[in-house]
Amino acid sequence: MRKPLIAGNWKMNKTLEQAEELVQDLIQRLQGIDQVEIAICPPAVNLAGISNLVKDTNLRLGAQNMYWEESGAYTGEISAPMLKTVGVNYVIIGHSERREYFAETDQEVNRKVKAAFKAALRPIVCVGETLAEREQGQTRDKVREQVKAGLAGLTPEQLVELVIAYEPIWAIGTGKTASAEEANQVIAYIRRIVRSGFGASADLMRIQYGGSVKPDNIVELMTQPEIDGALVGGASLDPDSFTSIVRGAL
Ligand code: 13P
Repeated sequence: MRKPLIAGNWKMNKTLEQAEELVQDLIQRLQGIDQVEIAICPPAVNLAGISNLVKDTNLRLGAQNMYWEESGAYTGEISAPMLKTVGVNYVIIGHSERREYFAETDQEVNRKVKAAFKAALRPIVCVGETLAEREQGQTRDKVREQVKAGLAGLTPEQLVELVIAYEPIWAIGTGKTASAEEANQVIAYIRRIVRSGFGASADLMRIQYGGSVKPDNIVELMTQPEIDGALVGGASLDPDSFTSIVRGAL
């Protein structure tokens, strides 16, 4: 069985002090839960501080981005070994906001995924279609392209450690969600694509849904057989709603 992963993507929110306050609150509220894996992904500058707080708890730590080189003259960038050495477990790669505002390509996503594995980080690779692509019936073409290019060259063993987040772009931060059935269908399709490239490992790999996940839709999403958790944006910034989402996934 695949253990669901509920991950909070804080995006560019929270100063260190605010972040520590939220984490301390979450540690209390979420202690003892082990049927669902829980991760928080704060801004990079807060990772080292928060790492100390979540050590020995059931909260895993994720970063929101990284660069594929290990070190060197890449002003402003952060490498996978740097993340690993401050206690990071997961790294979100290819979020639609990075693809849109920072022009990240599928090829760059693939380089980052490989660099993450080299440093023993677990990538959460984001894929998803725009509204226009959806309306033109191109959802499957888009996610197939992103999945194939983003995961190219990985081994079946690596694949089991990888997480895909299906996040339809039109559902991010808009309050609109894909219906649970629609999300399940696209995720089932993604799993078929992965199976065609990597065989049975695809059945062990987790695929999350993301896009306006809230306490009132998590239960329905989680009843779908193919949905293995959620990547939560806005609702992960509030301790009440993030806790309800985690509990809704139990
Ligand atoms: P929202 O939950 O705010 O829609 O964001 C989803 C997301 O982008 C998570 O990575």
